[in-house]
Order: sequence, then structure tokens, then C-alpha cells
Amino acid sequence: MASEAVRQRDESRGRILIAEDDASTREGLATLLRGEGFEIDLAEDGEQALARLQETAPDVLVTDLHMPGLDGLQLLERSREVLPDLVVVLVTAFADVDTAVQAMQKGAEHYLTKPVQLDELLVVIDRALERRRLQQEATELRARLKDRLSFDNIVGTSPAMQAVFDVIEQVAPTKASVLITGESGTGKELAAQAIHQNSPRAKAPFVKLHCAALAETILESELFGHEKGAFTGAVGRREGRFKQADGGTLFLDEIGEISPSIQVKLLRFLQERTFERVGGNETVKVDVRIIAATNRNLEAEVASGKFREDLFYRLNVVNIEMPPLRARPSDLLPLATHFVQRFAKENGKHIDGFAEDAIERIGAYRWPGNVRELENIMERAVVLCDGRLLTAKHLPAGVGAATRAGVRIPGSTMDEIERHVILSTLEACGGRTGQAAQMLDISVRKIQYKLHEYGIVFQRTTVSKPPES
Ligand SMILES: Nc1ncnc2c1ncn2[C@@H]1O[C@H](COP(=O)(O)OP(=O)(O)OP(=O)(O)O)[C@@H](O)[C@H]1O
Ligand SMILES: [Mg+2]
Repeated sequence: MASEAVRQRDESRGRILIAEDDASTREGLATLLRGEGFEIDLAEDGEQALARLQETAPDVLVTDLHMPGLDGLQLLERSREVLPDLVVVLVTAFADVDTAVQAMQKGAEHYLTKPVQLDELLVVIDRALERRRLQQEATELRARLKDRLSFDNIVGTSPAMQAVFDVIEQVAPTKASVLITGESGTGKELAAQAIHQNSPRAKAPFVKLHCAALAETILESELFGHEKGAFTGAVGRREGRFKQADGGTLFLDEIGEISPSIQVKLLRFLQERTFERVGGNETVKVDVRIIAATNRNLEAEVASGKFREDLFYRLNVVNIEMPPLRARPSDLLPLATHFVQRFAKENGKHIDGFAEDAIERIGAYRWPGNVRELENIMERAVVLCDGRLLTAKHLPAGVGAATRAGVRIPGSTMDEIERHVILSTLEACGGRTGQAAQMLDISVRKIQYKLHEYGIVFQRTTVSKPPES
């Protein structure tokens, strides 16, 4: 019996709160809707309805317009503050166009006149619930994708990295070629993997080739394969990386290093999706998405004639520029924490976090080697650490000894200086506005006001992009 009751509740079509001062209308509606498989909650007036909303978070509110105290329109407005995606249906005894218009403007789903026709009410409710379900699914999907990228492997809560995630999210489902640029150690390869992982090709191979590591002739046969006898030592036909990556993604690292003749062959592939093996004339067709990376300035290479302009444009359909670590100080602690946790686990140690002096030194350093350098230094620190906190003495002497990148004072405006001081203090406090306010001897409200003005949203230790307006 108990399981039957549970089963029935699981199959409920949704929870409806009925706000109606007239007892017989209220009970009548409740009986009808219960009979249709909804869970029903009742309120005798607006105030009571508001209290019930907070307690039971229904999916739908069916409210009378004229009630003592809080009327239907006021209740509609207040309920939006509590449950932004609540479906609201207003019911009134007298059809009155002005009120109807007002109700719709305030976001009521529908406006019905008494006596309520059950069929009409059900259609309104079902349609609204279905639309809401689709919206929620879409939101969850977006949130899941973002979580995976920002927490699974690429750590980055700074606005700059959030923007990178947005591009990855947009470009991943397509077949567009992507050129990932950025300094060494900024996560170019990680970004390439994320694009592949989030693409429809995720189950097919992700093949990478480091173009700078190989001599020209070897590189060509590595990429395209070769026929038997193509060169001394080519004892049989061999397939290349293009063929291996068929159906998947080919990641060409250090693309700036490839010779003019390979540039031509690659261009032809991007135009026609075909190539020939070295020493052969059979045309091979494969379905491969190209992602290329370089820490060189390819535009400059194009300008100086070292890199073909047409190839550059074919590769650079979408460009992702990985920001250097020094340009996103708010990512420092989340990244350092991520690495410490990983290495502590690998080394069987328990480390709770960082001492203040370590945080200060990490924040003051310029990180020329970017995330890779941070990763290495955290590994070393974990190995040296014998307590539960990483302190400054576990860091190499050079870290944090360099001067902090500051705002150039002469010629700066007071606003620029204020902005710099507020943001760097917040960053040093891990985004805790209370602590930053205390250090700066200003109110928390002032900090929040300024952040709003700068269009930055600090959420404790994370920073995210302001919502689209
Ligand atoms: N945002 C990040 N979150 C977590 N780990 C990161 C992040 N960025 C980089 N790393 C780590 O830092 C190291 C360097 O990253 P990666 O190899 O992707 O950089 P790269 O830009 O390709 O560098 P290079 O130009 O030297 O080849 C890797 O171990 C990678 O896992
Ligand atoms: Mg790399």
C-alpha cells in the first residue's frame, strides 16, 4: 500500500496552490484538479498564499483577483520574488480588460473568468508546465556543460577563462577549424581536448602531432602516411595521423613550424578534405576536424612570408586566445588548490590548504611559465610539505620575490587607482568582500556598488561573468 502511495505521488502532474477567499469555489476547484492528478494546497487569502508558496514551492498558483488584504495582482508580483518561474493563473468574477492587461504584463500565464472551465484551465496549466520543463532542462544542460569544463579539468573562474569556456561550448558541436593561440603553458592542449570531448566526435580518436619535433620528410609521412618504397626504409604502406583521426579530431601542435610544402598539402586538405600518401597517387578522403595551436604570433609569420596567408585563414576560422596566468590573478588560488589536491592524493598526503604567507607569495609572482609552472611548483611544494598547510617555505625562493604588477601611478586617474586597489584587495582576499572592506576601511556596500559598476560579479572565491542584460 505504501509503495502505491509513493508511486502515485511520483506520478503527480504537479503541485498547485489555490488562493481563493470563497470557500465553495476553493473546494470545488481543489476537487476538480485533484481528480486530474495534481497535488493541491489551499490558501484563503493573499498573505496566507505567500506563506504557503515559501513552504511548499508549488509549480502553479491559481489565484482569485479580488481577495481581502493582498489581492491577486499584488500576490502575483510578490510571488515572482519568491519563485521566479512559478506559473500564475489569475481568476476573476468580472472580465475587466485593464486588469487583464496588467496581469499579463506582470507575467501571469493566463486570465480566466468565473465560472472557471476545467478544460480551459487544464490546457493553460499543461502548456505552461511543459514550457517550464523545457526551459529547466536547457538550463541544467548548460550548467552541466559549464561544470564539466570548469571543474573537471580546466580550472578557471576568471572572466577571461569563462569567456574561453563560452567559445569552447559554442564551437565544440561544429566542424569548424580552431586555432588556439597563447603563451607556453596556458592550457592550449587542454582546450583542444575539451573541444573534442564536447563534440559529437568525442567517441572517435583525438590524435595529436607535435609539428616542431619532427624533420620535414618524417613529418609529412607522419601526417599523411606513405606508400611502400616512398623513401629508403619505407618497406610497406603506412597510414598517417590523418587516417588515424578519421571521424575524430587531429590536433596539430606548434603549427607555426611546418614547412612550405606541408603547408600546401594541409591547405589542400582543408579545401577538399583529401590528400595523397607520400610516394603515392591514390586520393584518400577522411572526415577529420583540425585544431591547431601555436605560441608564435602567426599573423606576424604571415606578414613576413613564412606562413601562407590562405592557410592561416583556413585554420583560424575560430580563434581561441588562452590568456596568460598573470592576466587572471583570480584563477591563481583555485588552480593552486586544484593542483595541491591532486598531488596530495598522488603522494598519499593530507593537506588542508595554504598558510597566509604562501597565498601572499603566490599572488605576488608574475608566473612567466603560466599554469605549467604553477603546476610544477605545487607538485614540489606538496612533496616538501610535512604538515597540513603549505607555507612560504615550501615555495622556491624566486616565487613572489618579483615585484607585484601594479597600476602605473603617474598619469592614472583616481578612478583607475581606486579600481585597481579594490580589485587587487578582493583578489588577495579570495573574493571575500567583508574582509576586503575591512582592509580598505570602506563599507561592503561600497565594494558591491563598485563591482556592479565594473560589471564584475564576485561569488566568494570565484568570479564569473555578469549575467547577460
Ligand atoms: N586551466 C587549467 N586548469 C587545470 N590545468 C591546467 C590549466 N591550464 C593548463 N593546465 C595544465 O598545465 C599544463 C600545461 O598545459 P598545456 O599543455 O595545455 O599548455 P600549452 O598551452 O599547450 O603549453 P605549450 O605551449 O608549452 O605546449 C598541463 O599539465 C595542463 O594540464
Ligand atoms: Mg602544448
